[in-house]
Amino acid sequence: MGINNNPHGNGKRVDSVAIIMDGNGRWATKRGLPRTDGHIAGAKAAAAVPRLFREYGVHHLTLYAFSTENWKRPKDEVEALMDLIYQYIDDAVIPALKKDEELCVRFIGDKSALSEELRQKCIEAEKFRESGSYFCNIALNYGGRAEIVNAVNRAIADGNTIVSEELLSIYMYTGGSPDPDIIIRTGGDFRISNFLLWQCAYSEIIILDTLWPDFGKEDVEKCMEEFYSRNRRFGGLDVDGSESEA
Ligand code: FPP
Repeated sequence: MGINNNPHGNGKRVDSVAIIMDGNGRWATKRGLPRTDGHIAGAKAAAAVPRLFREYGVHHLTLYAFSTENWKRPKDEVEALMDLIYQYIDDAVIPALKKDEELCVRFIGDKSALSEELRQKCIEAEKFRESGSYFCNIALNYGGRAEIVNAVNRAIADGNTIVSEELLSIYMYTGGSPDPDIIIRTGGDFRISNFLLWQCAYSEIIILDTLWPDFGKEDVEKCMEEFYSRNRRFGGLDVDGSESEA
């Protein structure tokens, strides 16, 4: 169902969605499985989401796969996650790029701390297609504060002595992409966890109790309905001038 024939959209358009995919560990523990099995199930759920959101006309999807803080996890879990992300690129991302001529994939975050093999795999996916109309950003070794510091340093290195919001937006890892209309967090916690700190200024935040590996079509529908029911004012007034808070 595209936005144009969605009876519930009220003309509101969702162009960009970002997701904090939380709850893999709890999903596995509930089933008596090792946490890494939760991540494997989480990768399967992640492979299915771009198609689900595209049905609602979403052109930009950003998935939080690994944060700058996730290195603090036990070494075995970090290694399993890195292997899984490599496999995910090979088994889900590259085949999707081959099938879909409009899809582009970009990794946001500091790739320099990744293994050489994983770094090259990310570059292979990014170079596969550099322009298109549907964009999937995968946040890998990503931290929102680190992104802002990196953007300021790169702006200075390019000779800027003063920055503006417009200029810094260009230097963000997400430069050129619209800010998320919706940020979804699964797993029930009300936290932003250093995700898209610059870009989340006016995002609608939706928290779901669903654990990430269980996330599917019904959750997408629920998020869209929730978004359509909200009143976005971007710090201004309603069309009829009745509300004045941010
Ligand atoms: C949080 O669950 C999830 C992660 C730290 C990793 C997310 C990674 C994937 C879904 C797999 C790879 C996906 C892509 C897109 C490459 P948690 O372990 O913190 O769960 P818990 O809160 O239940 O412990």
